[in-house]
Amino acid sequence: MEHTVHFDYEYFKKSAEYIRSKIDFQPEIAIVLGSALGPLADEVENPVVIPYDDIPNFLRTTVRSHAGKLILGQIQGKHVVCMSGRFHYYEGYAYEQLVIPIRVFQLLGVKATILTNAAGAVNETYKPGDIMLIKDHIKLTGASPLCGPNIDEFGPRFFDTSDMYTESLRTLAKQCAEEIGQHLWEGNYFFFTGPQFETPAEIAATRVLGGDAVGMSTVTEALTAAHCGMKLLAFSLISNMAAGVLDQPITAEEVGEAGREAAGRFKALIREIVRQMDLEV
Ligand code: HPA
Repeated sequence: MEHTVHFDYEYFKKSAEYIRSKIDFQPEIAIVLGSALGPLADEVENPVVIPYDDIPNFLRTTVRSHAGKLILGQIQGKHVVCMSGRFHYYEGYAYEQLVIPIRVFQLLGVKATILTNAAGAVNETYKPGDIMLIKDHIKLTGASPLCGPNIDEFGPRFFDTSDMYTESLRTLAKQCAEEIGQHLWEGNYFFFTGPQFETPAEIAATRVLGGDAVGMSTVTEALTAAHCGMKLLAFSLISNMAAGVLDQPITAEEVGEAGREAAGRFKALIREIVRQMDLEV
């Protein structure tokens, strides 16, 4: 259902105004919680919870494993907005609709976004349960969330993406991982639209092209954040070996299970990064 949707600046401001009316602080970090990483939401202190359904001009989640609410509050003394439940292209949204959450966060004052997802390992040295810091991504399918008339208030029509996964934040993430004894891979996330898992031949091609992990999210949000000049960090929890690596089918259940198993370690890492993140510099 590819359809053309165009939003103007006022459209996003309406969502932001509603959220602002519910809080008395300005969030500086946005955290998007992917498949089965919902437990990270428990880390938020003094939470203000806003169901997506209540927010004008926002989107609704359709995936059962994803809750649908914003959780605003504090983690390690920093003001955050967490998205518990995200939106994917495979749900039937147009790419252009997928810019909504990140743009609304930018209007709320967010300076850095942390994206998380579950992904399949293409790189055969990775194992389920591992965490990969996203160094860069490859998206060869379809259009961009930034298609359509450009909204200059957010960013320029054409923009550079060579440091979109902000190097200084990746350095910090690696330092934090080392301090807490969490092993961290760093690799390239390869985007597929889904909802089907990839074919073994697609995964073999992905490996040749330089992908280390595959998934169905993150890239649209990352591009939106880069467009509006936000700093960005993104992590994949390796939930399974990608298609064709093992002689067994991939199931949604194993993806969920890996997320639950890793939640504690993932939470500890994000907590430490948020604690040490200095957005003044
Ligand atoms: N492919 C795509 N998306 C995924 C996978 C996968 O193997 N695992 C978790 N999300």
